[in-house]
Amino acid sequence: MYKRILYATDGSQPARNALAHARDLAQKYGAELILVHVFRHIEEFGKSPYFSEIEEERKRAGETVIGQAMAELRDSGVTVHIEPCEGQPAEAIINVAAVRNCDLIVIGSRGLGTFQGLLLGGVSDRVARHAPCPVLVVR
Ligand SMILES: Nc1ncnc2c1ncn2[C@@H]1O[C@H](COP(=O)(O)OP(=O)(O)O)[C@@H](O)[C@H]1O
Ligand SMILES: [Mg+2]
Repeated sequence: MYKRILYATDGSQPARNALAHARDLAQKYGAELILVHVFRHIEEFGKSPYFSEIEEERKRAGETVIGQAMAELRDSGVTVHIEPCEGQPAEAIINVAAVRNCDLIVIGSRGLGTFQGLLLGGVSDRVARHAPCPVLVVR
């Protein structure tokens, strides 16, 4: 059923919950896992004389998220392909799913955003609406 599963993470708890599902499905179906983390644009951090420090902090934050996910996949026997992206998370996730022909996207229902009260975050909502394949949204 599934040959290539895209798992997207921002390091949040819902995304980490989603990883268990992505990993288990990949194991059961012998699917490859495409691990997507979308780095924020440097402009989002605002103009600052500390540009290079911010740039490093941004990279380090993203690499920590990827490293965390990789640590949980290490002994799973699943083949993982890391796909670092930049820009708008939803667009990047949808684009990778299309270009890499993924047959399932697994994401968290919410992320690091602080706006409470909604079932879905902006990214999971957009991905669920516009993805080229089925989407599993994990709480
Ligand atoms: N920068 C990102 N890179 C990869 N995946 C992301 C990113 N941001 C969000 N996601 C995915 O989308 C899910 C929902 O996050 P989001 O819609 O941003 O909720 P919130 O509005 O609470 O931040 C996350 O659990 C994660 O799976
Ligand atoms: Mg978010």
